Amino acid sequence: MKKTLIFSKIILFVSFFLSSSFNFSQKHIESEETIYQLKKALSVHLGTVSNDTIPSTEIIEDINKESLRHQTKNEKILICGAPFLHGVASGDPLEDRLIIWTRWTPPISFEGSKTVNYQISNTIDFTQILQENAVLTDSLKDFTVKVDVLNLEPGTYYYYRFIADSDTSVIGRTKTASVGNIDNVRLAFVNCNDYRRGYFNAYKTLANQNNVDAVVHLGDYIYETGGGPQGRKHEPDAEIWELNDYRMRYSQYKLDSNLARCHQVYPFIQIWDDHDIVVDAVTDTSLQHGEQFGSYQLRKNRAIQAFREWNPIRELSTTDQIKNWRKFSYGSMLDLFMLDVRLYDRSSFATGVTDTIYNSQYAKMCGPEQLEWLKDGLYNSNAKWKVIANGLMFGQLQVAGVPLVFENWDGYNYERDQLFNLIDTAEIKNVIVYSGDFHCSFATNLAKNPYNFTSYNPLNGNGSLAVEFIPPSLSSDNFDEGNDFGLGSGNASLAQTLITTSNSHIRFCDLNNHGYGLLDLQNERAQNEFWFLQNIQNPHNMNESAASIWRVLNNEGKLTSGGIVSTPNFSIPESPKACLDPFATISEVAPFVIHLFPNPFHDWIKIEFVSNDGTPINFSITDCSGKVLKSEKETSFNLGQNTFWIPTSELSTGCYLLKIKQGSSEQIKKLIKV
Ligand SMILES: [Fe+2]
Repeated sequence: MKKTLIFSKIILFVSFFLSSSFNFSQKHIESEETIYQLKKALSVHLGTVSNDTIPSTEIIEDINKESLRHQTKNEKILICGAPFLHGVASGDPLEDRLIIWTRWTPPISFEGSKTVNYQISNTIDFTQILQENAVLTDSLKDFTVKVDVLNLEPGTYYYYRFIADSDTSVIGRTKTASVGNIDNVRLAFVNCNDYRRGYFNAYKTLANQNNVDAVVHLGDYIYETGGGPQGRKHEPDAEIWELNDYRMRYSQYKLDSNLARCHQVYPFIQIWDDHDIVVDAVTDTSLQHGEQFGSYQLRKNRAIQAFREWNPIRELSTTDQIKNWRKFSYGSMLDLFMLDVRLYDRSSFATGVTDTIYNSQYAKMCGPEQLEWLKDGLYNSNAKWKVIANGLMFGQLQVAGVPLVFENWDGYNYERDQLFNLIDTAEIKNVIVYSGDFHCSFATNLAKNPYNFTSYNPLNGNGSLAVEFIPPSLSSDNFDEGNDFGLGSGNASLAQTLITTSNSHIRFCDLNNHGYGLLDLQNERAQNEFWFLQNIQNPHNMNESAASIWRVLNNEGKLTSGGIVSTPNFSIPESPKACLDPFATISEVAPFVIHLFPNPFHDWIKIEFVSNDGTPINFSITDCSGKVLKSEKETSFNLGQNTFWIPTSELSTGCYLLKIKQGSSEQIKKLIKV
């Protein structure tokens, strides 16, 4: 979703209240002057770029040991090294099968196919190998490896790894879906991780929590845009539309050590959203798809191909790559319906309430085939909880009867009303909707018309048929980072108050924070915890808290605030050892390296650095014993941000250290050549 649009509408919304006869606003605020002051105060909060200071000689020793270990046969599994540089992942767990994934990084100029073996074990040391087989990969699938491992036991943890020649990947841990009568299912809900906007700290804390069955990703796993804020840069640093550019973008994201760690320890269940293709994507077009990018359909197909190559997602059809809606069941406790509200049969959204498509049957969010599948699944579900996961806000966010965002379900009443009517007339209990892409957090009672207080009671929530939770973005910009339309964090509470006051069914709204949602399902209640990270502009700040907790009691269909942080009722086996971060800073003073690319590298490496001192800088590449293999001196550069290129074609594959020295200050980073 184009965030400037959302936030501009929220400003209009705020303006409406400030200039209306609404008592709250009149009482506290002089409208025009206040709006002027708010807009004047608007600033794009980008935070600082990396603050990677880790001045620890112990870390240097550890990395040297690990790097040397990479050269030692039989110990390679201890690092996330070549050729499995992107780590491992798993996904789409069913009761008897799940997907395992990796990528084999080919040597330069490699041609042909490559055999990669995989092993499944029930022990972390692989003393007992349950399954072992070989698969082929090649350039047609960008050397990604994806296996649907069959004949597994339900509700069971497994370890897996990949082997090519004498190289072994890092070990992954995964879990199949449960069957029968179970008393607890736990899922994390994540979405919208823009690499440029902040560090993926939440993926690391989520992995550290080590307490969910699976991670549900609601889309915007990558962002297709280039440029943007100062901070981590996209590669390539431009809007992508070619297949290899989408692939490079996935490669960059999957090299993030926090995201890699989360994939390593949990299975993911993923759907796509617009930025996985192009902002505002629907089935036949995107308002943001420029003519210079050629055919929209070709671009969409390329994006989908890369999405399927690079993610642990099951192929549902050999002929229909777009069809992606699917169901996951966890025994008596949960049926999870993953929707595609972007690409399969989605129409463009209305421009306003006078647009003829608004409220018409031609406004399609799911399309009839998917909608019937969902309705049938809800009607026939015997699970205690029915969770619908999709990429867009389901509940109403309106002012004076006018939706603020027509792109959301608010612009698709024909289909939304069918779901409300089904839940109401068939008395389907315990429906929870999880929605993405708002970048902000919401907890909402769902009623067909929550503004009609004869059918919905705003005081006690009676009349609510179901509930919705929207987890915050993991890193993508929200209210206080809202480009040209942010009002600043100091004013978010005002907007939050106005939203919840005007939309009384929205019981909780937070516009500033980043993190994830955690759903704990038990027979007597469901509980959602909004976990917020303290500071995602600092890659070392792993402080987080469950800032708000909401419950839905069995058969009540409405929200209750409060609760304590949940813990699993099931035991979880040991996490495998983490990959080393290929971007790990070993020590750092000035100058300030903000980006190395590519890493792993082939025949050159680009260094972006900031220096506020004109003293010459020495760049040297050493092996892990400290022997200098290349050395270059930069004497002419600007104060501020600079770029330096080092040719590296003569280096053989392996691990290296890049030392950047200015005066007495030295900075060391780890490099991998493949
Ligand atoms: Fe997003």
